[in-house]
Amino acid sequence: MSDKPLRVVVGITGASGALYAVRTVAALLTASVRVDLVVSDFGRRLLTEELGTEAAVDRLVAYLAARYGVVAGTEALAVHRNRDLGAAIASGTSPCDAMVIVPCSMKTLAGVAHGLSRNLIERAADVALKERRRLVIVPRETPMSLPQLRNMVLCAEAGAHVLPAMPAFYQRPTTLDDLADFMAGKIVSCLGLEQDLFPAWDG
Ligand SMILES: Cc1cc2nc3c(=O)[nH]c(=O)nc-3n(C[C@H](O)[C@H](O)[C@H](O)COP(=O)(O)O)c2cc1C
Repeated sequence: MSDKPLRVVVGITGASGALYAVRTVAALLTASVRVDLVVSDFGRRLLTEELGTEAAVDRLVAYLAARYGVVAGTEALAVHRNRDLGAAIASGTSPCDAMVIVPCSMKTLAGVAHGLSRNLIERAADVALKERRRLVIVPRETPMSLPQLRNMVLCAEAGAHVLPAMPAFYQRPTTLDDLADFMAGKIVSCLGLEQDLFPAWDG
């Protein structure tokens, strides 16, 4: 894997925090990273519940352009069906550098922790772990049960970066976009990219 990822799989699942997901996709595209996007059924529901019908998967390119000024052709952003376990990204032979699941539901977290590969998001995550590629998991739930906490430990032990959806407040955010910028900045940084979505703490 190159230090700077050129191609990243993004999984969006049915946990709260769709804004983090679209902000992350926009930041990756802005950094000229090719994105292979997979959205679970509940991920699709959360996109429209939290951001409106204009953020539906089949309208996402227009949404990213309107909200973030990002222009993405099909060579930059490919959308795969979560049921398509035959997609290229389901194989270790695919030239992907890294993967992020944002937000990550407790169900998908469990699936990744136990290597279930029930759908393309879980399978691509399994591939990232077995190929020793960077896998960033952004879980969101509160409070958390012991099985959920244990599943995060299992993922971390397998090599994943567990980056909970926990925006900080020392940057004095005033808008939801500030919170999303912080989380997306943390994610792209964890994926190996330089981030300029929020300023570093300077003491
Ligand atoms: C409005 C709404 C919000 C939800 N928020 C969360 C959440 O924050 N975390 C979570 O683990 N599940 C949440 N769920 C439940 C998941 O969507 C559900 O467990 C689903 O089966 C996850 O499937 P997926 O991982 O394939 O997307 C939410 C569901 C709905 C309808």
